Amino acid sequence: MRKIWRAAVDAVTPYEAGKSLETLVAELGLTELVRLSANENMLGASPRAIEAVRREAASIHLYPDGGSGALRDALARGLGISPAQIVVGNGADELITLIALAAFEPGDEIVMPHPSFEPYATGANIAGARIVQSPLAGYETDLDDIRRRATPRTKAIFLCSPHNPATTIIRREPLVAFLDALGADPPLVVLDEAYHDFVDDPDYPDGVSLLAHYPRLVVLRTFSKIAGLAGLRVGYAIASLEAIDRFNRVRAPYNVNRLGQVAALAALEDPDHAARTRKFVLEERAYLAAGFEHRGIAFAPSQANFLLVRVADARHARERLLAGGILVRDGAAVGFPGHLRITVGTREINERLLKLLEE
Ligand SMILES: Cc1ncc(COP(=O)(O)O)c(C=O)c1O
Repeated sequence: MRKIWRAAVDAVTPYEAGKSLETLVAELGLTELVRLSANENMLGASPRAIEAVRREAASIHLYPDGGSGALRDALARGLGISPAQIVVGNGADELITLIALAAFEPGDEIVMPHPSFEPYATGANIAGARIVQSPLAGYETDLDDIRRRATPRTKAIFLCSPHNPATTIIRREPLVAFLDALGADPPLVVLDEAYHDFVDDPDYPDGVSLLAHYPRLVVLRTFSKIAGLAGLRVGYAIASLEAIDRFNRVRAPYNVNRLGQVAALAALEDPDHAARTRKFVLEERAYLAAGFEHRGIAFAPSQANFLLVRVADARHARERLLAGGILVRDGAAVGFPGHLRITVGTREINERLLKLLEE
């Protein structure tokens, strides 16, 4: 028999995104369903981004700018770095795959917290690399444990801050000590900052500012959360010139579509929308946290636009919420059984959610 499929792909589990919102609404016979399971932006996208997409629709018969040049220029200006240190991807998801394609080989070890954002493991598995899991210490990333698991065979370490699904951050001092301890010839350290815009802890480090000292660092960011462009798929990596050159070699020629590029550019030109989103998330996160505390419900100290909440029977609680028109993520699906992962909603939705959980 001819062997068609790569053995490494046997280890890959397809990403389970769940049923579409439309399918669920139809199946449950609901008039409305609020999705608090995907950490989307409850305020929607910037009106400027929506207008940019409308204008760009007339040009969708033309290929996009393959290098996302205007977007990289704008990002670079804002970050105070060179555009050559940025690659834009079809969501931060694509960048995780590009890192694996460019760097991982069979036999490499890829260290990551457990649980963590699933695509890290997918990238490692696709490449035939070996996943080395470092258990979280409660809800916190255990940097000492990760360092102990790093060996000369370690090709990359994934860190996520704020962590999905645990919601916690890695603070500046321990992160710098960790990076220093990896020595002069460290593995790649991928610092996933998808939720960095929602952090209010003053000890949160800016990953981009660390790049000058730690050239093996790769920082990931996205327009899906703060900018509300999840449906258009735009993320970016900031790294050394060498790393970006390698990622460019393995990416598809036109990996980011026209609508995504113009919408992301327009989002950068609307800092008020980003500020509104941040203010909204911080206020409503505090409101939910106070509501959980008041009801004796335990949760992780969140710095993200979602909370990880401990419940006695997560499956039952999720079903109860679903019947009430609110979709949340069962923690069991993201490595936290006995928990629900809940995106910060609007005040009206949060009130409903607290009431339903109380019942
Ligand atoms: C930690 C983390 N990294 C990356 C991503 C992917 O972001 P994008 O929508 O840009 O692919 C997500 C999305 O939920 C995430 O939670």
